Amino acid sequence: MFKIVEKKYLANNIYLMDVEAPRVAKKCYPGQFVIVKMDEKGERIPLTICDYDREAGTVTIVFQAVGASTKIMAEYEVGEYFRDFVGPLGCASELVSEDPEELKKKKILFVAGGVGTAPVYPQVKWMKQHGYDVDVIIGARSKDLIILEEEMKQWSDHVYVATDDGSYGFKGNVNDKIKDLVNNEGKTYDLVIAIGPVIMMKFVCLLTKELGIKTIVSMNPVMVDGTGMCGACRLQVGDEVKFACVDGPEFDGHLVDFDQAMKRQQMYKTEEGRAMLKLQE
Ligand code: FES
Repeated sequence: MFKIVEKKYLANNIYLMDVEAPRVAKKCYPGQFVIVKMDEKGERIPLTICDYDREAGTVTIVFQAVGASTKIMAEYEVGEYFRDFVGPLGCASELVSEDPEELKKKKILFVAGGVGTAPVYPQVKWMKQHGYDVDVIIGARSKDLIILEEEMKQWSDHVYVATDDGSYGFKGNVNDKIKDLVNNEGKTYDLVIAIGPVIMMKFVCLLTKELGIKTIVSMNPVMVDGTGMCGACRLQVGDEVKFACVDGPEFDGHLVDFDQAMKRQQMYKTEEGRAMLKLQE
């Protein structure tokens, strides 16, 4: 059993929880995820790790209460328990294993959209803790949907906020802000890491392809077993079929078939679609 030791409401039905999971906290790295289950019969919910405290033995998760299971999860309070908290799963961000000398030379821009800000956060923190400065764009439709801005500013001196309606920060979407930084502020980047809604990652990748900047995205498809066995999280990446749970969740964004990923996401929203996908697997 895994105890919830902290719970915060961030915005727009997005919640943060610190959960006591010492074994996961000890081994996890930015980019990895956990699968949680509230009770024996509960749905298995994959969530990217937002932060971890190895000493306290806690792992921070951030989730948006949108479906039945996450809505129930949002009702859990401090002192209550998750039945399962399995992880760390997936591969760590490639930044973690990159040659420090090579990493030092790179100018990196993180692009975070909506709840995708949560998985960006540990990577930005890790970079700063290891002596690398990065730029960050946090984008949302409006000011009230921006999360983790202050937390992010602790680890980067260059956090730019962009809102579609201009209610806060730069007026425009994240792509408008990337163009602004490159064209008007003379910034150059060697690597973009974009995490957010699939549609956002798709359009960021179209832009960065044009600009010739390598781009990594973090895919969050439906997952069932999280061990590469069920095929639910299948993605087309270039010529290859990949499983987000074991091969990812991070991939070269210029190779990901986003349209197929969105189609599968839609299918999984209906019982019928789920049954259909099962038949294909
Ligand atoms: Fe089953 Fe990835 S979740 S293969």
